[in-house]
Amino acid sequence: MTTEMTAGARVHVVRFAPAKLNLTLAVVGRRDDGYHALHSIMVPLALGDALTVSEAPAGATRDSLRVTGLGLSPSPDNLVLRAIAATRAALAATSHDPTAQPRSLQPPLAARLAKRVPVAAGLGGGSSDAAAAIDAALAAWSATLDPESTAALAASLGSDVPFFLARGVALVTGRGEFVEPLPDIGAEPPAVLLVTPQLALATPGVFKAFAGGERQRDATRALEVSERLAAELRAGLTGSALLAGAADLAAGNDLMQAALSIAPGLRGFITALEKLVGRPVCQSGSGPTLWSLYATLAEARKAARFVRLAAANGTLPVIGAGEPFVVATMIAGRHSPPEVQLTDGATVTIRPRTVHNGTGSRPLRGEPVAEPGDPKGGEPR
Ligand code: C5P
Repeated sequence: MTTEMTAGARVHVVRFAPAKLNLTLAVVGRRDDGYHALHSIMVPLALGDALTVSEAPAGATRDSLRVTGLGLSPSPDNLVLRAIAATRAALAATSHDPTAQPRSLQPPLAARLAKRVPVAAGLGGGSSDAAAAIDAALAAWSATLDPESTAALAASLGSDVPFFLARGVALVTGRGEFVEPLPDIGAEPPAVLLVTPQLALATPGVFKAFAGGERQRDATRALEVSERLAAELRAGLTGSALLAGAADLAAGNDLMQAALSIAPGLRGFITALEKLVGRPVCQSGSGPTLWSLYATLAEARKAARFVRLAAANGTLPVIGAGEPFVVATMIAGRHSPPEVQLTDGATVTIRPRTVHNGTGSRPLRGEPVAEPGDPKGGEPR
């Protein structure tokens, strides 16, 4: 393990931090540590944040973070900063090399996060940023951690973080720490319409409501749906077969009733959205993000325009702080190009890379780049 930066050069690391969708989320029990045991099929999306981590400027004594894009003020509690600090501590704890730098000398890092995934939305945005930050910090320090230490580090930062280190479709169990990689969804993975009402739905509160008795009417249905989907994916499920079974997926989230109990306006919103899109509407994670599957990105984009129009003209009730975040994207996989992020009306290219340069002043070629003709600079609405 080495932790030295390249002498005389500034190191810049760019990582894509995809959002996730829970295709299913069954709560199968309560653990002794207070967490809930899950059985969840999770997929990465082509929508994601871009994280750039660089060697901090000379004289800097601590890690720093600048956030652009969707509203989020950087705070010391931000998972990116916590992940960098925890990675530094894990390196120090696992170092058996007497010549390795002491922990305090591991150089500070300057992180920039281009935020495209809504926070506290059930899309795993913060957890994905944390996983990307572990990876980027290690690359910036030219360091490695053994798989066990990396897994423990990820789990210590949040239940969803281990999934993002696995980089593909997975069955997630335990509180989130057991990740079984599954094959990519074969032959044209479906597109997804995401609709996120502007409601603050904190994950602990939703699990608390579940523990307090806010359960789905059929207590075993979500697990049945989740186990069947896991078996189908292991056998090589195609995108069209997933689409054909979408009605079942709407019953595959055990946290839906708990979310509805905290945000009562959500029920009417879901009913109106279902009517509008004419297909099953499902919830991701602890919500409030709602999603529907489409055969193509063009269809999902058309639906996104329709939903935005309906929110603007009042056909779709506006709940929470304002009009919902609406975007069309794709289910990604281990073998889909990780660098392509599709947002509504724009394609943004994020090439994961490590760049060494002397000046550090010119723009990084790996940073998010809007395609020509995209006046919004690639930001989703
Ligand atoms: O691990 P994370 O910080 O994301 O979890 C946030 C909260 O959600 C936990 O403190 C816990 O209350 C709840 N949770 C749970 N069971 C899980 C994951 C999260 O009860 N599997």
